[in-house]
Amino acid sequence: MTEYILKMDQITKSFPGVLALNKVSIDVKKGEVVALLGENGAGKSTLIKVMTGIYQPDNGEIELFGEKTKFHNPADALKKGLSVIHQELTYLNDLSAAENIFIGRLPHNKFGWVDWKDMAEKSNEVFRRMNIFIDPGALMSSLNTAEKQLVEIAKAISCDAKILVMDEPTAALGTEDTEKLLKLVREMVSGKELSVVYISHRLNELFTVADRVVVLRDGQYITTKNISETNEQELISFMVGRDIKHFYSKTSSHAGDVVLEAGYALDSHTKGKAVVLLGIDAHKAVDIGINHPAAKYLKPPGTTT
Ligand SMILES: Nc1ncnc2c1ncn2[C@@H]1O[C@H](COP(=O)(O)OP(=O)(O)OP(=O)(O)O)[C@@H](O)[C@H]1O
Ligand SMILES: [Mg+2]
Repeated sequence: MTEYILKMDQITKSFPGVLALNKVSIDVKKGEVVALLGENGAGKSTLIKVMTGIYQPDNGEIELFGEKTKFHNPADALKKGLSVIHQELTYLNDLSAAENIFIGRLPHNKFGWVDWKDMAEKSNEVFRRMNIFIDPGALMSSLNTAEKQLVEIAKAISCDAKILVMDEPTAALGTEDTEKLLKLVREMVSGKELSVVYISHRLNELFTVADRVVVLRDGQYITTKNISETNEQELISFMVGRDIKHFYSKTSSHAGDVVLEAGYALDSHTKGKAVVLLGIDAHKAVDIGINHPAAKYLKPPGTTT
């Protein structure tokens, strides 16, 4: 029997003039990484905000550990085991790593004073579990982006999170730190004590980190796929709503004709996260255009990044 920790069923959420989520369902099994995929405005953040008590759904049901529940606010969701790391990290620069981990629940000694030693020891314990080294006394302002991210993860783990929600965790990381983070996420779920809901625009990451992927489009639930049973092209089709093969015309060409010239550029709309296809030869091929919904997900032939 599959052990679902969380089931969100037919969740609807609207804002004035916008139906952000229309009967969206998602479930999370014990010890898995579920990726949430969709274009800008698809409803990913709204869904995780409902999942972590920031928004109340207009309709739909949430089941946690087999029991119907409501998350009244983020503190309530955290108490019930759901922790979220937002894309905009919420640390306090002038406090230490340990203080950031235990903020709002600093340990006190019998005289009622903050027990710094206990806090440092507990921080080290979490860092050891994560297989990393960060000085608990280091000021957050002295840590680099990847280390700050790790402190946020440590905070979630120390709260005994059962589900960790990560919204674009690698957006500000370089290749090496991204690889380390993906490895850490896999290690964290391997003990089956933690599940992760992972949002990323970088499709290739999902094939490293996710077990399943849930695709949303325009606030609608599209599909859920086992990552081992899908590929990037198929996922793009689900995201944009068309088969990407249809973006190319069937005009014939002769050997030697340049039909496609491709290059990279960073798209300001996607905050530099995606690659854009440029410079398609206008004589022989269709110009799908830089603003075409599919363009930013395509990779020039022969590239691996
Ligand atoms: N607080 C809000 N008030 C009004 N509309 C909102 C609010 N939050 C989200 N929306 C709208 O709901 C829709 C879904 O937005 P959401 O932020 O969930 O998308 P997303 O998939 O997270 O997109 P992105 O990839 O850009 O982060 C969008 O049309 C958005 O403009
Ligand atoms: Mg979002």
